[in-house]
Amino acid sequence: MKIAILKERRTQETRVAASPESVKKLIGLGIQVAVEKGAGNGAAFVDAAYKEAGAEIAGDAAAALKDAKLVLKVRGPEAKDAADLPKGSLLAAILDPYRSLEEMKALAEAGVTAFAMDFMPRITRAQSMDVLSSQANLAGYKAVVDAAAEFGRAFPLMMTAAGKVAPAQVLVMGAGVAGLQAIATAKRLGALVSATDVRPAAKEQVESLGGKFVAVEDEEFKQAESAGGYAKEMSDAYKKKQAELIAETIKKMDVVITTALIPGRAAPRLVTTEMVKSMKPGSVVVDLAIDNGGNVEASEAGKVAVKHGVKIIAYHNLPGRLASDTSMLYANNLFNFVALLYDKEKKDLAIDWDDEIVKGTLIAKDGKVVHPALENLEPARKPAAKKAAAPKAAAKKTAAKKTDPDKTEPEKTSAKTAPDSDKQPDTDKTAETGKTGEEQKNGD
Ligand code: NAI
Repeated sequence: MKIAILKERRTQETRVAASPESVKKLIGLGIQVAVEKGAGNGAAFVDAAYKEAGAEIAGDAAAALKDAKLVLKVRGPEAKDAADLPKGSLLAAILDPYRSLEEMKALAEAGVTAFAMDFMPRITRAQSMDVLSSQANLAGYKAVVDAAAEFGRAFPLMMTAAGKVAPAQVLVMGAGVAGLQAIATAKRLGALVSATDVRPAAKEQVESLGGKFVAVEDEEFKQAESAGGYAKEMSDAYKKKQAELIAETIKKMDVVITTALIPGRAAPRLVTTEMVKSMKPGSVVVDLAIDNGGNVEASEAGKVAVKHGVKIIAYHNLPGRLASDTSMLYANNLFNFVALLYDKEKKDLAIDWDDEIVKGTLIAKDGKVVHPALENLEPARKPAAKKAAAPKAAAKKTAAKKTDPDKTEPEKTSAKTAPDSDKQPDTDKTAETGKTGEEQKNGD
């Protein structure tokens, strides 16, 4: 059986779907691997390294795809390019299905069986395939490093003969995978870290990392976690109280990192321009949610904007700014997924279509878009539908006793795959930002 690894075609996508290491492991399973020439350049994986691992280096995409049964990519093809994939082939990639319905349809029409790695159910068995976590973890780290690079002051307390340098005050908004890693990274750099989230479970995790938890802890907050352990959209009254608390907190901060997402909805607007104005000149804000619409009103997608003396960093595709590591982790996620679909004895695909991981990620099959979470969206098919995070499976999490964002993502224990109804994308939210789905995806 042959697997094709293609070069990424989307602007600013530096990652690649295989590492020399993952190629070696695939070949170890008896799989033939073709890597399109130059596919790993953005991640510093050179053709020679893939070749040494046992891959064939194909001169172009068509040569890589010839006779390939399975295609591994970081991002899916644009609708106009879907038919380039061989009819009957399988594709595994981060497809962003909620915002890319036309592309999902084009894949189905091209006769491709498509799996969205970003729809991976968050169950224990799928942890090693959880691409949202593997990528968000490094994005959280990079957000802090980017902030430190733009900040005209130091992060740690320094006592020098010439005087004292005060530690930086960092606020992390959203304490999920990316946020927890941001807290840990900022702490390591010596900053004083506070963090906020709307999920009560986040409090213990923040505190276990040495952060100070800041939140309106009212009755609504106590109920805020959805069945899947994810944030719910909060009431207007809560949002108002939260905004007041954040406004007071932000004034004292040097660096604010925002990572807040609500599955299936636009990223919540947490930092208003008024709040930015209240910050000290030279402060830095990083909007990690920019590709989902942004948490910061004043963000300019894809740029570092200076507003009211504050630098607002809103780079696209933060995981792509650490392409070697994120590609390596993503390639491992994909390897584990391929191993699930493959029978070593038969040396061929042997897919259990009833497996909840297969069902949870399967988007297109037999000429149709088949994922239940996309059914209701089809008639509307608004291109402006906000990005939803994966239809994160209802996963009852065990409370993390000591959170270590370096070791693993927070634990999951349950095994429910069907996306929760409260995680459907909110197509109407577009009106709030006035941006189209394409604009949100591609930015400036
Ligand atoms: P996410 O990327 O969907 O959202 C990031 C964070 O933003 C979340 O913690 C969310 O609560 C927070 N947020 C949403 N609205 C907010 C607001 N208005 N103000 C402040 N914060 C807000 O989340 P991610 O990183 O995917 O993690 C979500 C949950 O999944 C967490 O409970 C995490 O512990 C859990 N998880 C479980 C895994 C597992 O079961 N193995 C793996 C990864 C995450």
